Amino acid sequence: MKDSTDPSRADLGDISNTEFRQLLHQVADWIADYREKIEDRPISPNFAPGEIAKALPREAPESGEPVENILRDIDRVIAPGLVHWGHPQFMGYFGCTTTAPGILAEMVAAAFNVNAMTWRTSPAATELESVVLDWLRQWLGLPGEFRGVVYDTASISTMHALAAAREGALHRVRQLGLTGRDAPLLRIYASDQAHSSVEKAAIALGLGEENVRRVPSDREFRLEVEALQKMIAQDRAENFQPLAVVATVGTTSTASVDPVKEIAGICRAENIWLHIDAAYGGGLALLPEAKWVTEGWELADSLVVNPHKMLFVPFDFSALFVRQIERLRDVFTLVPEYLRGDSVGAAINYMDYGVQLGRRFRALKAWMVWRTFGREGMAARIREHMRLAQLFAAWMEKEPRLELRAPVVMGVVCFAAVTHHPERSAESCRMIVEEINASGRAYLTLTELRGATAIRLGLGNILTNESHLRAVWQMILDRLH
Ligand SMILES: Cc1ncc(COP(=O)(O)O)c(C=O)c1O
Repeated sequence: MKDSTDPSRADLGDISNTEFRQLLHQVADWIADYREKIEDRPISPNFAPGEIAKALPREAPESGEPVENILRDIDRVIAPGLVHWGHPQFMGYFGCTTTAPGILAEMVAAAFNVNAMTWRTSPAATELESVVLDWLRQWLGLPGEFRGVVYDTASISTMHALAAAREGALHRVRQLGLTGRDAPLLRIYASDQAHSSVEKAAIALGLGEENVRRVPSDREFRLEVEALQKMIAQDRAENFQPLAVVATVGTTSTASVDPVKEIAGICRAENIWLHIDAAYGGGLALLPEAKWVTEGWELADSLVVNPHKMLFVPFDFSALFVRQIERLRDVFTLVPEYLRGDSVGAAINYMDYGVQLGRRFRALKAWMVWRTFGREGMAARIREHMRLAQLFAAWMEKEPRLELRAPVVMGVVCFAAVTHHPERSAESCRMIVEEINASGRAYLTLTELRGATAIRLGLGNILTNESHLRAVWQMILDRLH
């Protein structure tokens, strides 16, 4: 509110409520138009690095300007300079899908702009976080001894899980650190298909990137249990201390699923922490017919799932579940004097469960999206994405110029061009992806499987239907020789 009692201060404060309301309507229309007409936009821009910044004012703004000007620049420079992940023919990476209830919740959360660090700083944000985490725990079929915490990304979730594991393996590492002490070298095991976030966690935790041992995977890109067992035995013989195994449910390249139950057996017998990276594949647990994917989860120490990948929550939202979450709390709780008064009985303070103090109100968007669609509604949509992936694979079976390069387990299809000379296949794949992406009509990515280049198509966008898939299929066929 402007200070009407002091005319010299009339320009202080926020923009007026009347103007804000009008802008809000304008932006609401802009967002609705963006979503409605997203298919008219090229998916990816064709700018050289630096070109976008050049089209914008470079001087820091000395005096303010009307919001209208800024909105015009969003239209003129920013929107055309983005890759439109929400476009139904964007099939790169894992879809981080935009949904209408998710957008609405983000707007409301921005209006609240609260900090969910302690219960007292935002009771409803804290309690909603506990509520949505428990819904998710139930959907994932995790026993009640698991409790969760929300972070931004799976990389951060995995780092926190491994920090808890490290604390259990080395006495008072929180207090004393790792250096200058007589301690064994700790080792982490993950398949050769696991995400690079495992190494990132080892780097951040002072465990060393080279102490992440990559276990070979089988023909279907699943961790080989025997090889894991051998590596652990070899490490023990050489005086390393096995710390944790990271099993992946839905690997990044092919969405393969490691044999979690067998891995859990080894971890139990060897007293090793089992972390499950279900960042992508965890969402499949919502489908009753896909319960096989959750086999062995109840034996894990921790599990991460990214609802921003398969579960329709806008980026970013990652949930880490830990059995006996006190093991995580013991590593990170540290209450500065100015927050000591914030402790209220048994109320949970989520700042105690991680490195960061300030925390966004992420729970609101999960709550709104999940209530809007319900488990059934989400399962139906995920099921359709799985059907589309299988359909695409079936088209491929009948097309002699293309071949599948990995089993289709979830919403991911990896394939390559068949050529007389294998080295030409990589060239062909690259050319297909480059041309299609440059056309702006679809977006695909490349990956490497056993040293060979493959095209990777990822389904998961809430707007994608069979006609979009057919259009992309035709674009691929048109570029085959
Ligand atoms: C299996 C898997 N784990 C972890 C990650 C890292 O995810 P984030 O970007 O949330 O850190 C990814 C990224 O796609 C992934 O595919």
